[in-house]
Amino acid sequence: MALRLILVGPPGVGKGTQSALIEQNIGSVPLSSGVIFRREIEADTDLGQLAKSYIDRGELVPNGVTIQMMLKRIRSEEVRQNGFILDGFPRTVRQAEALDLELDKISMPLDAVISLEVDDQIVISRLSGRIGCTKCGEIYHATNKPPMREGFCDKCNGPLIIRQDDKPETIQERLRIFRDSTAPVIDHYAKKGLLVKVDGSQAPETVFAEIREKLGQ
Ligand code: AP5
Ligand code: MG
Repeated sequence: MALRLILVGPPGVGKGTQSALIEQNIGSVPLSSGVIFRREIEADTDLGQLAKSYIDRGELVPNGVTIQMMLKRIRSEEVRQNGFILDGFPRTVRQAEALDLELDKISMPLDAVISLEVDDQIVISRLSGRIGCTKCGEIYHATNKPPMREGFCDKCNGPLIIRQDDKPETIQERLRIFRDSTAPVIDHYAKKGLLVKVDGSQAPETVFAEIREKLGQ
């Protein structure tokens, strides 16, 4: 079934990790604004250069370019057919309103907004050990999920790196912005009756099992 989902939660809660599990098991198309921005940075496009100046400081990229970038992908044929898992978007109430308007226009209502919840202490320790593949995007953790061969991806053998914005002071800024700008997005969808709360502090497979159960999948 073509599910249309939003994953929302603080930096490091496991949105990317759960998005991959949902894609593998349920089939919706993952759309992570952070991943798309990092690809633009890698390709050194105008959008990438603009995004980098905000991302490296842990600040939000301006709403206008972000909304345009994400809505374009939501309108694609693949997403229309298979549904989507939005990860990292919408992150402000303005982005949420623009998304709602578009989904209304193209008659693709949301099925659920999954809010992953954990304490700040846990996200700090998760982000401090995160390592990611530069080639296929697979996510690892130095102690929770180490790669088999240090520095290289188990799946595609690509080189693993630590993200620029995973420095302690930038993590604090990202948490602050989450509380100020993104927590209101959770209230926005709670009022629409779409919110599904999930305990993100459990092991990845247990978090996924809870998501599945709460979605009735
Ligand atoms: P983005 O890439 O979206 O970053 P984020 O929201 O800060 O979230 P992360 O990707 O850091 O964490 P995650 O929840 O995906 O966790 P993960 O699965 O990796 O955004 C980056 C930047 O881009 C923003 O700061 C902003 O500048 C810009 N941006 C993006 N979207 C924007 C928007 N809409 N508007 C404006 N600007 C935007 O897991 C983390 C670690 O924990 C991993 O090592 C993983 O292995 C481990 N882990 C995961 N789950 C578990 C578990 N259950 N138990 C133990 N370990 C776990
Ligand atoms: Mg992520």
